[in-house]
Amino acid sequence: MNLRKPIDVLVAESAESGEGTLKRTLSNKSLVALGIGAIIGAGLFSLTGIAAAEHAGPAVTLSFVLAAVGCAFAGLCYAEFASMIPVAGSAYTYSYATMGEFMAWIIGWDLVLEYALGAATVGVSWSGYFNKLLHEFGLELPLYLTKSFAEVEGGGINLPAIVIVSLLSLLLLRGTKESASLNNFLVIVKVSVVILFIALGWKFINPENHTPYIPKNTGVYGEFGISGIAAGAALVFFAFIGFDAVSTAAQEAKNPQKGMPVGILGSLAVCTILYVLFAHVMTGLVPFEIFKGDASPAATAFKVTGYSWLQMGLIIAILAGYTSVILVMLMGQSRVFYTMSKDGLLPKFFGSIHAKYRTPYKTNLFFMVFVSLFAGFVPVTDLGHMVSIGTLFAFSLVCIGVMILRKTDPDRARPFRTPLVPLVPILGILVCVYLMYSLPFEAWIRLAIWMALGVAIYFFYGKKNSVLRKRNEQGL
Ligand code: ALA
Repeated sequence: MNLRKPIDVLVAESAESGEGTLKRTLSNKSLVALGIGAIIGAGLFSLTGIAAAEHAGPAVTLSFVLAAVGCAFAGLCYAEFASMIPVAGSAYTYSYATMGEFMAWIIGWDLVLEYALGAATVGVSWSGYFNKLLHEFGLELPLYLTKSFAEVEGGGINLPAIVIVSLLSLLLLRGTKESASLNNFLVIVKVSVVILFIALGWKFINPENHTPYIPKNTGVYGEFGISGIAAGAALVFFAFIGFDAVSTAAQEAKNPQKGMPVGILGSLAVCTILYVLFAHVMTGLVPFEIFKGDASPAATAFKVTGYSWLQMGLIIAILAGYTSVILVMLMGQSRVFYTMSKDGLLPKFFGSIHAKYRTPYKTNLFFMVFVSLFAGFVPVTDLGHMVSIGTLFAFSLVCIGVMILRKTDPDRARPFRTPLVPLVPILGILVCVYLMYSLPFEAWIRLAIWMALGVAIYFFYGKKNSVLRKRNEQGL
């Protein structure tokens, strides 16, 4: 039997565990800031260059628009859930209530791709900009310490990526939490940098770099032309990941009914506008071909403006921005595994809390090693693909969940209703599946292997140890 966790139980449990005692301090504005804080990062500052060089050329701006549309449909579905079930756990929790334990497990397992590999991806990009910063100071680390052997010939291990992931994991373990004010500060820094880049770079745009705006398809699917725009969208979709983090703050929102939709959709809207303008300037400054394999294209492009005094500031602000994204991702990952362990689907190891720091420290240490291995050895493009395919899969399931709950629990109060159900969720699924389809075949294979591993673990471990199943069997 596929068990569903009743929504009333979910809400009650979150109140018991102490999660429910979180203060409702976040205003709608802070929620938008939270979203933007988790959203703007490597996707914009690093992957834009790769998407332009390998897939879309200057039309990477259209890739951003396409990805944003897909996110908006999914975002509308998230908003309904987040305002209706304002507890932590996000997509994993929603699925437990709507599609049952097996699908919840699938989503929880899948979220590792979003959060853990997301942190690894941003870690690699962090390393790219860190090396640029060292370069500004006249220092160079040897290639075998800055790039993975799988990324370039002569490479070895991406040490700076491992160091930042480890440092932030240890920080999380100590219970250091980003306060809303720190987050607001980082958002101001990040957004200022983006706006400055657009404003100062605009007059240096060379129209020749934008001609043709949509380069001709090479004959290979996904290499320029229309299919290139879609493939680019699948890659830069990464830049929007994080808006779902707003939904994990549902319990801390002053007014989740209104705050969730405003936070989720508002941050998406602001980021889309900034992304399109940013990408337009970036590909206008230099020929997009030079971004091939470049993990810090914003800095490369900005060089031509001659504002060398700003170069250092730009790099430092980008590094600060990345740091917050890695931190939020690592934190989100540990929360998901913590919740799954509490439900009995994962060993108690992941749910144990440090006596003094009150953090799921074992999970933090586990993911410190797990994420470091990926950050240290896997090329950034492969990582980005994995994160995107995993997240798109999760988004599709959230869209399906909205439709299911409308049928199974039609009378429950929905402070925010996704408009035009089932049209919007169906469009959401179609766009997500289309973007997934545009990702390379290897990403599908890896997703299939990862999910097969997950299914095996569920049947050998989770199903037998599920707390809800045991309770049901005991007739509780
Ligand atoms: N959207 C986040 C980023 O681009 C994950 O870094």
